[in-house]
Amino acid sequence: MKPYVFITRKLPDELVKPLMDVAEVEMWNKEEEPVPAQLLREKANRATALLTMLSDTIDESLLDASPHLKVIANLAVGFDNIDVPVATKRNIVICNTPDVLSDTTADLTFGLLMATARRLIESANYVKEGKWQGWSPYLLAGHDIHHKTIGIVGMGKIGQALAKRATGFEMEILYHNRSRNEVAEQQLNATYCSFDDLLTKSDYVVCLTPLTNETKHLFNKQAFQKMKSSAIFVNASRGAVVDEEALVEALQTGDIAAAGLDVFTKEPIDVDHPLLSLSNVVALPHIGSASIETRTVMMKLCVENIIRLLQNQDPKTIVNKELLSQNC
Ligand code: GLV
Ligand code: GLV
Repeated sequence: MKPYVFITRKLPDELVKPLMDVAEVEMWNKEEEPVPAQLLREKANRATALLTMLSDTIDESLLDASPHLKVIANLAVGFDNIDVPVATKRNIVICNTPDVLSDTTADLTFGLLMATARRLIESANYVKEGKWQGWSPYLLAGHDIHHKTIGIVGMGKIGQALAKRATGFEMEILYHNRSRNEVAEQQLNATYCSFDDLLTKSDYVVCLTPLTNETKHLFNKQAFQKMKSSAIFVNASRGAVVDEEALVEALQTGDIAAAGLDVFTKEPIDVDHPLLSLSNVVALPHIGSASIETRTVMMKLCVENIIRLLQNQDPKTIVNKELLSQNC
């Protein structure tokens, strides 16, 4: 009997095809709506492998109800939606999609920074809404980007790719990370500094750090108060790294100038959320890695990882590396 694989979203058939040759594959039939939690539970109960989205919660109770599970391939670099320690205890391999999305996510992050600094969305709406009466010196004037200081919190592959873009704008690059990043320092001229120093010195504070117990609400009231009042905050990692109430307050009181946000604590964010009522917020629907090219590569990588695991081979990318020797 072929192993059963459940995919929690409708993906293009041609990308899933290789998996169909080696497994019985079922997909949730909607492209834009997540699979209901109860249905996921029923499917996971039979599944040897799951191909999941970052919006699916894979917690201990779901893992408890999934006795046959060998691998979960998450269509994302982040894996905070999965209880990795519990999965590891149960010998379930967790795969993510690092590296293949770094440039695409850095493009979006820098684009979001630019859109926020130069008020691009506000300006485009201004024209379309017929508000443009004439040219004036400070009309929709924003903040310069070139030659300013960017502080990158979380200097992994995406942080490095972002720093590379910042060098083209002749920005001074500061970074904070759990460990020093030699590539960033030597090739991109990035300067390591403490979190507090980065906050006080940066014109642009960009959050790219993964969500963990340590980084939850890292950007809180104290953090925003340490930033320059002209600072622009950009978040392209996970919403919960930010205390959103504190961010709203910081934007309202002028502790910081503006924010560009691709991620939120609750996604989709409620349309009446105070963040969305602020003119100095640019909000995007979590599209960091969303180019057609990169999403296609990410899907292929997930499919390939599942096939490799089912054939007792090393996956190409793995989160819980300690399981490698046992599975291969
Ligand atoms: C997107 O947020 C990802 O983790 O890939
Ligand atoms: C602006 O368009 C200028 O010519 O300065």
